[in-house]
Amino acid sequence: MALLPVLTAPNPRLKIKAEPVERVDEEVRRLMDDMLETMYASDGMGLAATQVGIDKRIIVIDLHAGENGKPPRVMKLANPEVLWASEETAFVDEACLSVPNLYAAVGRPTSIKIRYLNEHNKLVEIEEDGPLARCIQHEIDHLDGILYIDHLSRLKREIMVRKLMKARKY
Ligand code: NI
Repeated sequence: MALLPVLTAPNPRLKIKAEPVERVDEEVRRLMDDMLETMYASDGMGLAATQVGIDKRIIVIDLHAGENGKPPRVMKLANPEVLWASEETAFVDEACLSVPNLYAAVGRPTSIKIRYLNEHNKLVEIEEDGPLARCIQHEIDHLDGILYIDHLSRLKREIMVRKLMKARKY
């Protein structure tokens, strides 16, 4: 396994729309494992391939990452698609490894139904709600070149990007 460099905003590669994978083979599985290792090393709970500069529609999530005593709840998804989203939305704080040390509340549907290929190349459909539904939507956004700060007002987003760039100088 290998640690991959995580891109941070405003890197233009984070804006690239990722391409579907043809199938989940050994190479994709290896990438999923490297992404998971990178995510744990960075104290994240989700990571999209876009964030490590790979334009493939792959995401990994461990909803219990960083929660001591809880067993891992790992998901590895290729080509995830939202089939349905609830009308009900909620505003909850989000953070992102590509927007380090900041957070902001984002409005998203509270429940979703998705379809994806799992690590065994099997097509799976699931319904999720709560933090996992939010995390999946956040990561799918990455595959479409969207950061959570893109959901904020322009003023708020510009303030956050300025903070990021300032933090990087020191
Ligand atoms: Ni993120």
